[in-house]
Amino acid sequence: MKFIHTRIVALSLAMAVGSAFAAPVKVTIDVARPGPVINKNVYGQFAEHLGTGIYEGMWVGPDSPIPNTKGWRNDVLGALKQLHVPLVRWPGGCFADEYHWKDGIGAREKRPTKVNTNWGGVEESNAVGTHEFFDLAELLGAQTYINGNLGSGTPQEMSEWLEYMTSDSKSTLAELRRKNGRAQPYKVDYFGIGNEAWGCGGNMRPQYYADLYKHYHTFMKTPESARPKFIASGGNDDDTSWSGTLSREIKPNMMDAISFHYYTVPTGIWEKKGAATGFGENEWISTLSRTLRIDSLIKNNLAAIDKNDPSKKTGLYVDEWGTWYDVEPGTNTGFLFQQNSLRDALVAALNFNIFHQHADRVRMTNIAQMVNVLQAMIITDKDKYFLTPTYHAFEMYVPFQDATALPVAISGNGKYSLGKVSIPEVSASAARAKDGKVYLSLVNTNPHKAVDVNVALAGKQVASVTGRVLTAGKMDAVNSFAQPQAVQPVAFNAKAQGGKLTVSVPAKAVVVVAVE
Ligand code: AHR
Repeated sequence: MKFIHTRIVALSLAMAVGSAFAAPVKVTIDVARPGPVINKNVYGQFAEHLGTGIYEGMWVGPDSPIPNTKGWRNDVLGALKQLHVPLVRWPGGCFADEYHWKDGIGAREKRPTKVNTNWGGVEESNAVGTHEFFDLAELLGAQTYINGNLGSGTPQEMSEWLEYMTSDSKSTLAELRRKNGRAQPYKVDYFGIGNEAWGCGGNMRPQYYADLYKHYHTFMKTPESARPKFIASGGNDDDTSWSGTLSREIKPNMMDAISFHYYTVPTGIWEKKGAATGFGENEWISTLSRTLRIDSLIKNNLAAIDKNDPSKKTGLYVDEWGTWYDVEPGTNTGFLFQQNSLRDALVAALNFNIFHQHADRVRMTNIAQMVNVLQAMIITDKDKYFLTPTYHAFEMYVPFQDATALPVAISGNGKYSLGKVSIPEVSASAARAKDGKVYLSLVNTNPHKAVDVNVALAGKQVASVTGRVLTAGKMDAVNSFAQPQAVQPVAFNAKAQGGKLTVSVPAKAVVVVAVE
């Protein structure tokens, strides 16, 4: 008993170190000056034909002993529904530019087997095709983002796919869709014309891609009511030439948004990215520091677009983002399978807070990827599964979907530093959600000390506050099949007194509080 008491005192002291001596950080939320709506699609997902991301991870087929609905596993569907997944991008990624949609319709046993040349050279059965994808979207209640094949397809193939999916006519393609089991047109919310045209999508220059985009787009005809938003495939990392060229060459009436990809690689070296677990503090801070770069990358891309589109109509969709580590030892290098730790949850939360700041233009993002691939929500092995820390970050942020962003000012923010790398200790974001409450998210990047945050809500009296925190003892704490709930959010106490709010954010933690 005495031992336990001593440990509790020691733990409390340890958590207080730093916060006892440092002046509190001040966060001011201007409730009276609502900003743009945070489009729920900022919390979009990406599911590519890659590794066990779709096959096994989500799709097991209707005859599988694993309980499923229309072939999609019930356990994974149930967990994803808790995230209110607003949107799914499919079928790639690099896979999209080798995908021929007619391979994926009709009787499954008659579909051709192809080789997935991008991802491990494994056989692609085409068991998941257009109808199966829309089943998934409908089961999740999610919007759809189809990525078309510009790299190895033709304008005819792409335009016929759109007709097959969306036509309400008696055309041969619409009748074929009906024969394949779908009477009503599908709703294609977004359509991407190609992917990473600078790389796996064709190794093109932006000028060449811009011409191809216009060429393909010309034939993408639907009734106005069925017209998806069209996305041009843009650049990545710190290359803004794609945003600049595409916004100059393609008018907003032909393009709703330009996409942008940014992956967080701990070392910054693609050949030796760093491990998902067992890393030192140097890779904790380098990962968080590299992920924070996305703020300036978004700003730079928006500046490049705004030169050509001063009306700011064109969106910037970050349709691939997340951590990319060395694959887990012993796994297929083409499957991009990696564990997911507390560090990934902080990466997710830091990105969300940045996306909220750009809510007027960043109206969609897609984390890469949904299940078993890169920074996944869920990891499966045959009939088993567990939820990752990233899943929990997404779940904690659900109230931010379609919430109204509120201006946040931070003063007295400390620095968390190691060697030559230094990042802000606290990241904050606030919004008024659809339930009327004000939600505040706080991330403490420092793995050593708690940070006290005094929150002032200009224009609002605080009556009560509830919240949850996601943290763990170790920087690389993970969930696993043996310990599926090692890292998960727990209830969190914040103090609301005299209209003021005080939050003590533990070390290496994500906190979301609801204020009434
Ligand atoms: O998400 C994995 C891959 O990363 C995608 O297929 C590609 O677009 C990007 O390079």
